[in-house]
Amino acid sequence: MAIRLGDTAPDFTAETTEGTINFHEWLGDSWGILFSHPKDFTPVCTTELAAFSKAKPEFDKRNTKLLGLSVDSVESHRQWDKDIEETQGQSVNFPVIGDEDRRVADLYDMIHPNANDTLTVRSVFIVGPDKKVKLILTYPASTGRRVDEVLRVLDSLQLTAGYSVSTPVNWQDGQDVIIAPAISDEDAKTKFPKGFKTLKPYLRVTPQPNK
Ligand code: BEZ
Repeated sequence: MAIRLGDTAPDFTAETTEGTINFHEWLGDSWGILFSHPKDFTPVCTTELAAFSKAKPEFDKRNTKLLGLSVDSVESHRQWDKDIEETQGQSVNFPVIGDEDRRVADLYDMIHPNANDTLTVRSVFIVGPDKKVKLILTYPASTGRRVDEVLRVLDSLQLTAGYSVSTPVNWQDGQDVIIAPAISDEDAKTKFPKGFKTLKPYLRVTPQPNK
């Protein structure tokens, strides 16, 4: 069955480049990003794994662990990593699942047969510390993901988990946010002491509350 936002992320135990991982246990109190790569020794995946590895300090700052997946063996991932380091100047610094039997790929519906019946698409699942799925992105194999966008949505998810706000189009960390319509003006005055602007009764903006 398809995984939807708010579902508990299916748990699994899998072999990775950093040993056996039980997903929920490994997440602990962290946020997590489980993302699939269609195949080892492929060009777009090579660039993605290096770029996410370069950005790992940014994910660490956000208490977020990265977990890659590709439907090849752990040994194959290790061989491929040598090419990643050689061509991108960065080796992979987070675990990558060796999902040869496609158990995790099937569990997360990462294989879309109308795109390709054996390789995974480029899925991204962001999971909160409560193990609930907070965000799902799906890209075709031909389009590499943008690390900055994954960090941006993570900032929004973490902010909106703690405050009654939402983030507007193209929002970036540090910019004004929108007060949830369910909050009365009276309550907004105490919840958002920096003040707010009412553009319409349903569109009230306030400085980012955790800055
Ligand atoms: C790639 O990573 O470049 C790729 C992987 C599978 C199919 C197409 C492209």
